[in-house]
Amino acid sequence: MNAPQRLTAAATATAPRRLAVVGLGVISRFYLAAIEQDPTLRLAAVCDLTEAGLAPHRAAGVPGYRDHRALLAAHRDLAGVIVTVPNDAHAPVCRDLLTAGLPVCVEKPLATDPAEARALTVLAAERGVPLFTAFHRRYNTPVLDLAAACARAGSPVERVVVRYFEMIEEHVGGDRWYLDPERCGGGCVADNGPNAFDLVRLLLGEDELAVAAVRIDRDRAGLDRQAVIELAPAANGPRPSGPRPGATSARPAAAARRARVELDWSYPGELKDVEVTLADGRVLHADMLAGSEGFKASLWHEYRGILAAFGAALDDPGAHRDGGLAALDLVAAAYRAERSPAVPRSLPRPAAIPATPLAAPAPQGTPTILTEAR
Ligand SMILES: NC(=O)c1ccc[n+]([C@@H]2O[C@H](COP(=O)([O-])OP(=O)(O)OC[C@H]3O[C@@H](n4cnc5c(N)ncnc54)[C@H](O)[C@@H]3O)[C@@H](O)[C@H]2O)c1
Repeated sequence: MNAPQRLTAAATATAPRRLAVVGLGVISRFYLAAIEQDPTLRLAAVCDLTEAGLAPHRAAGVPGYRDHRALLAAHRDLAGVIVTVPNDAHAPVCRDLLTAGLPVCVEKPLATDPAEARALTVLAAERGVPLFTAFHRRYNTPVLDLAAACARAGSPVERVVVRYFEMIEEHVGGDRWYLDPERCGGGCVADNGPNAFDLVRLLLGEDELAVAAVRIDRDRAGLDRQAVIELAPAANGPRPSGPRPGATSARPAAAARRARVELDWSYPGELKDVEVTLADGRVLHADMLAGSEGFKASLWHEYRGILAAFGAALDDPGAHRDGGLAALDLVAAAYRAERSPAVPRSLPRPAAIPATPLAAPAPQGTPTILTEAR
């Protein structure tokens, strides 16, 4: 499909953008609700391997397909396609969509192999269409408030700690592909790592990062269920591009900037938070689940944010800088570091109680400032 055939914002000032959703499992319902609630969007078609997934949509008059290539052949006028299939299916589905010239919003991780992610990134650039990796925590209200507080703080971000703790068995859909490293791309590092690494890039800056130390704990089957990954700016990494929180203040030297990502797939319950230390010693904290009561409740507003950001990428494809490849490179670097004798591994296991004592919970929308400037 060439660009004039696609519906652009300019050509369709009044007509809703027509989107298709490929993959109708756990996460699709957040996309489908966000499309339904946005009058500028319309669900044009859906795709899933199973008839059961398609049936309610067909009953509602939305065309359904068992193969994304059949959907592509029947719908030449889509503004974009949302891909929410298991991780190992991202690359082949996205490749077909991008080859057809369609903008793609794909769930994290962009692919299971950085080489595939790189090839998709090149393909999207060649076709001149957005390839948008959906990092839903970027649109989480406490995270947005934290980033805004960092930007206002007048002191740059020096250290970021992201914790992503859950019991993975509570999150798997019908076919438990998460627990198959071939289909997931690995364990907790491959699955939750990308969201956590992307938050580090959001808050610390988009310099190329390297793994400075790593600890990965595996179960008897060899699946990584816990990990602690220390990150630091890569020695010869490029300068960051574009604005970042705290960009108005002088940057700390690269040696002072650090991040730690703690992942736990065996945690009873759920804990997902971010702690930022500013160069002047203040510590800010965001609980990503605060203000969202119920299992996966924060995802409703986060996926509305994803679709708004994808819409902005459709409006101005040149302005979108996708973080999908950078996050996947860090996943691969963490697994490589686990096998490298040159990378320190004497880190403590992920801890539910952070080194800094947590203050009382902040009112919704206000990052907790834990300590004042030293
Ligand atoms: N579940 C979560 O908490 C969560 C959170 C954030 C991101 N994600 C990401 O969202 C994506 C989907 O995860 P999920 O939990 O919804 O998985 P899921 O297993 O619940 O759903 C996947 C759906 O895709 C369908 N499918 C598989 N291969 C397909 C193909 N080739 N074409 C069309 N349909 C196909 C399956 O039939 C299934 O209905 C994954 O990439 C995952 O990493 C999941």
